[in-house]
Order: sequence, then C-alpha cells, then structure tokens
Amino acid sequence: MSKKTFGMIRCGGMGVNISCPRLAKALAMLGQYGTVSGVALERVLVAILQRGDPDGNIRRALATFPFQAIVKEVMEKYFVDGGVKKGRFKNAPSFTINPSGLLIALVVCANYSFVWLAKEGHDHPITINYLEKIAMPHPFAVLGAMLANVDFITMGAGMALLIPEMIVDILEGRPAHYEVLVLGSKSNSHTVLFDFESFFGAKLPTMKKPGFIPVVSSYVAANAFVRLSSRLPKGSISGFGVEENTAAGHNAPPRRPVFDAGGNMLPVYGEKDVIDYARIASLGLPFWIGGNYASPKKLAEALALGAQGVQVGSIFALCEESGMDQRMRRRLRALGFFGKLKTNQDMQVSPTGYPFMVAMLEGTVAETKVFENRERICDHGVLCTPYQKSDGTIGYRCPSGPIDHYVAQGGIREDTEGRKCLCNGLLTTAGMNNEGEPAIVTLGNVDFLRHLMTGPESSYTAENAVRWLLSEQNPTPP
Ligand SMILES: Cc1cc2nc3c(=O)[nH]c(=O)nc-3n(C[C@H](O)[C@H](O)[C@H](O)COP(=O)(O)O)c2cc1C
Repeated sequence: MSKKTFGMIRCGGMGVNISCPRLAKALAMLGQYGTVSGVALERVLVAILQRGDPDGNIRRALATFPFQAIVKEVMEKYFVDGGVKKGRFKNAPSFTINPSGLLIALVVCANYSFVWLAKEGHDHPITINYLEKIAMPHPFAVLGAMLANVDFITMGAGMALLIPEMIVDILEGRPAHYEVLVLGSKSNSHTVLFDFESFFGAKLPTMKKPGFIPVVSSYVAANAFVRLSSRLPKGSISGFGVEENTAAGHNAPPRRPVFDAGGNMLPVYGEKDVIDYARIASLGLPFWIGGNYASPKKLAEALALGAQGVQVGSIFALCEESGMDQRMRRRLRALGFFGKLKTNQDMQVSPTGYPFMVAMLEGTVAETKVFENRERICDHGVLCTPYQKSDGTIGYRCPSGPIDHYVAQGGIREDTEGRKCLCNGLLTTAGMNNEGEPAIVTLGNVDFLRHLMTGPESSYTAENAVRWLLSEQNPTPP
C-alpha cells in the first residue's frame, strides 16, 4: 500500500464479533486500520471454547498469556474437546458491578486473545472498539487488550471521558477504576474497581500506551474531548471517528426530536444534526468520517472535508473475512446485489434507547411475527442497566427482557415496547448462539455491493473492498 493511502480506511467496530480478529488482521496487513469488536467478547470466547476451538486459535493465543492460572480456570470451565455434541451451551455469567473471579478471567482472556490474534504475524496497528453504554466490563476488558499490546482503543455510544485516565492508571500500576451509571442511586454512579495486581498475584509485564479514538457525531462532543485532554497526559486523544446518522449500528438521536401522535420519536434528522467538519478539522486531530462513506467518491469527499479518511462498517461486515454467519452474509449480499435489502433506523429496538439501524431480513426479529413468537428472556444481560433497589442493593434490568420482571424492578412498561434482545440477536448473527434464538442484523447502505460482486452468488474479500475504495486515489495502491 502506498504511503499516501496508508490509514485512509478505518474499519468501525462491529459487534458482536463481526469485526473479528481475522478481518482486523486482513485490514491491518493492507495498511489500513483493523478493528476488533470488544463487545461481549467473554460470551464469544465461551461459545468458541464449547465448540472445541476448532482451529486452535484461542488456545494458541492463550498459551502466551502471562498469567496461566486464570487460563487454566477458563479452560477447565468452558473448553470442550471436539465441541458440545448436544444440549445448550453454557453462557458466561452476566455482569454486575462486583463480577466474580471467573467472569473477570473470561473478560481478560477474551480481550487478550482476540487482540493477540489480530496482531499475530505483522506489526501494523490494531484497534479494539467498546461501547461506553456497556461500561461495567471496561477495567477488565481494557486491561486484557493492553496485555496484548493493543494500539488503539475506540469507544462509541456515549462520552467515554474516563478512559484516558484509566489507561494511565493501568500503565502506572494503580488499580483500574471506572464510574458506572446506577439509576436511582444518590451519587448516580458506582465505581467498578480492578485491583489487577492482587487478582493476578503479580505485577503486570511492561505494556505500551494505546492511543484513544472516541467516536462522536458532533463538533461539540469532539471539542469536549479535546478540552478534557488538556488536563490529561499529552496525546491522550489520538483522533476521532465521526459518525453520521446513516451509520450502521447505534446512532445518536436527533438533536431536535420529532414525535408521532403516540409520543414515539421519529427518525427525522434536521439541520441541527449536520456535522460541522470545518470545526472538527480545526481541532487539529485526525478524523475518519463514517455512515454511508463506502465508495471512492465518498472517500474523496471525506478527504476534501479535512478527514484522514473514512470509517466504514457494512462493506466489511459482508466480506469474506467477516465474523458474520456465512449463510446470513450470503443472503444479505444477494438481496443487496439486487437492490432489495431494506434497512430501517429503528428508534425503539435497542434497549439502550439509542436509534439502531436494522436490516429487514426475513427470519430475523426485524420481522414482526418472529419478534412476537420469541419468548422474552434475558440470559446474557450485556445491556442491563444497574439501578438502586429500595433496600440499597443494586439490581440489573433491561427493557428488552421479560416485561413483568422489568416493571417489578421499577422499570416503566412503555419503555419495553418494541425493544428487542440485541444480546441474543447479535450473538446469533455471529453464529455464536444456541439453536432457536433468532438473529438481528444491523447494516447501513449497501450500494457498494454492485461494484464488488459480479452476480448474486459472488463474494469479495477485504482486499477487493480496500482496493475499490482507494481506486480513485493517486497513486493507486500496488
Ligand atoms: C454489523 C455491524 C455492527 C456494528 N456494531 C457496532 C458496534 O458494536 N459498536 C460501534 O461503535 N459501532 C458499530 N457499528 C458501526 C460501525 O462501527 C461503523 O461506524 C458504521 O458501520 C459505518 O457506517 P457504514 O456501515 O455505512 O459504513 C456496526 C456496524 C455494522 C455494519
């Protein structure tokens, strides 16, 4: 890849395990920014181990982990030689503000091994992406990724203002701590603490300092990070992903919301949501623009706006190296090739309350009858919100879970309407769930497919996509 085109393309973090180590590594080796999705990795790890770790990748990565006692604990509990033959898979425990030693071990090992695999065999940078909304695992997940010498940490879905400080604490050997929102509590938050030296019973090996790339959708948010960073160690913010509201995954709600007669927010964005790129450029940090930017023309547009390049997702979610279930990818590509794949900015679906882009694919919970036939269970709890109970203890609830349970936990019944279980849906999309749980697919615009495919059954690699995206850049890639 020529120097000029190096790093123009950043793969967005795509959960759960869509931006998997194989995809991240392929992109890094093409001189672009490869990203590992850090969302719910402990759940992906236990799914792979119970499938017998067929290609041996996890075992190869974990053999290099510096604290083997915790690897032993994880393997004894979840590894099944040859894979589970029948019955359901065991889930990882759900998160709490005081996670068990086993859960901590799973999170650290998962983040370590996925970053390690993405970095194996080259020395190009690898990013891991988390969601600020899923904050309870942060100290454990970030530490695991840092032990594998991750190069950048990216954070979307919220203002992750505490991450840079936590990175410094870890590097200087102080326990990692993170403030997690606790609804109804006096202070509104609770500190999750990871005293890693006592957990591992030893000091950490030398690690490098990862850069930090928040994902924002306005100049105001980008500027808040820059202002904050003046109080932080120099270079704490490495740049920004800047997402327009057309991006796949979660999006920022409209700044001036419009509601229907029933009081539901509509996906209507206006002038207030237009991003001021000139002001973002004036902050002097590199940024990549995302949300329907997967074409040579849109890359040129982003560069003209002062960006370093584009942050793209959907184009890599459907390529050969993606972690998405193969059969589903094939169906999505074929529909997209014929221009028949519809996507919908759904304002209700996500338990986070953020708009979420949903692909209208048959057999998934996007279909009303599939959604209505699914029993509402909450057996992963990744998107549960901690709340303070009347007895002072902390409970966990999710509006996508069983409705009566949510209401009994002090939640508002109306908040459960149209909410779908993203934990189960996204694990199924990654091929990491029990039989019978329907999928949910998030995708943005897929017009790129007709440039990359020769027929409805054809496919393309990450390299095909990168070459096409860079095809109008001068000099073109070798
Ligand atoms: C399948 C899929 C899953 C995604 N999951 C996440 C996620 O977990 N966290 C996140 O910050 N962004 C997520 N995104 C958004 C991407 O990181 C990226 O910003 C976005 O896809 C860019 O828009 P594009 O799809 O039009 O290229 C996801 C996107 C896709 C396609």
